Amino acid sequence: MTDVLLQVERLSAWHGGAQILFDIDLEVRRGEVVALMGRNGAGKSTTLKAIMGMVARRRGSVRFMGRELARAEPHERARQGLGYVPEDRRVFTGLSVLENLEVGRQPPRRWPDGSPAPTWTPARLFELFPNLGAMPHRPGGQMSGGEQQMLTVARTLMGNPYLVLLDEPSEGVAPVIAEQMAHMILQLKAQGASILLSEQNTHFAELVSDRGYVLEQGQMGGVGELAGDEAGPGSHSLVDHEDRRRAGR
Ligand SMILES: Nc1ncnc2c1ncn2[C@@H]1O[C@H](COP(=O)(O)OP(=O)(O)OP(=O)(O)O)[C@@H](O)[C@H]1O
Ligand SMILES: [Mg+2]
Repeated sequence: MTDVLLQVERLSAWHGGAQILFDIDLEVRRGEVVALMGRNGAGKSTTLKAIMGMVARRRGSVRFMGRELARAEPHERARQGLGYVPEDRRVFTGLSVLENLEVGRQPPRRWPDGSPAPTWTPARLFELFPNLGAMPHRPGGQMSGGEQQMLTVARTLMGNPYLVLLDEPSEGVAPVIAEQMAHMILQLKAQGASILLSEQNTHFAELVSDRGYVLEQGQMGGVGELAGDEAGPGSHSLVDHEDRRRAGR
């Protein structure tokens, strides 16, 4: 198999009668951090949900690790090693940090070539999230929003996913937590993780990702203000020109 982990082709999705996504194409390779950017309501969360099979009405191809998952149930996708941290991060409020982590545990995985895929344990995760390591027995309900957010990411990693879909890691958290999230993403990448994250904050996206896609009103290839009119050199390098070309720009 090639090093393409996720290949999405002509993905469309509807909420009720309204079409939200229009023939989205994107791909993520092994070891990459890819940003899916776009404004409020552009369809970022819907894209991640559709990749996870969580939008009832959808069309198109989602190939993951060489397998077509378009018809698979969300739990089957999770079992195949597709991790997902939704926008409304929820922890089990009555369970401790450690117990929340146990809920996410799945067996270690191997790449098709037999080499081990990134494997996570509470101890390794506590190195990545020292805040959590300082409160292993704290009930989820007694943690700050930012801490709960870290816990949902950590719980997803306990499933040893080949690829993590991360919906707006910087959204709605204090700047200091956003900074920790950015640091965490860079660390994850250094440890071999592959991530597709949605992000409205261009600065955050540029800081953590190798390249990015821009969604505009459910269509791929918008450049808009996100790539920045006054943006300096480097900004555009985030936008994959090949994808814009394919999108007919
Ligand atoms: N469950 C739903 N039912 C109906 N419409 C929805 C639903 N979820 C999203 N939408 C609509 O779909 C469009 C895309 O929403 P989506 O949440 O995917 O955008 P987003 O890029 O993630 O935005 P944000 O930055 O606010 O998170 C919006 O017009 C939104 O109102
Ligand atoms: Mg969203």
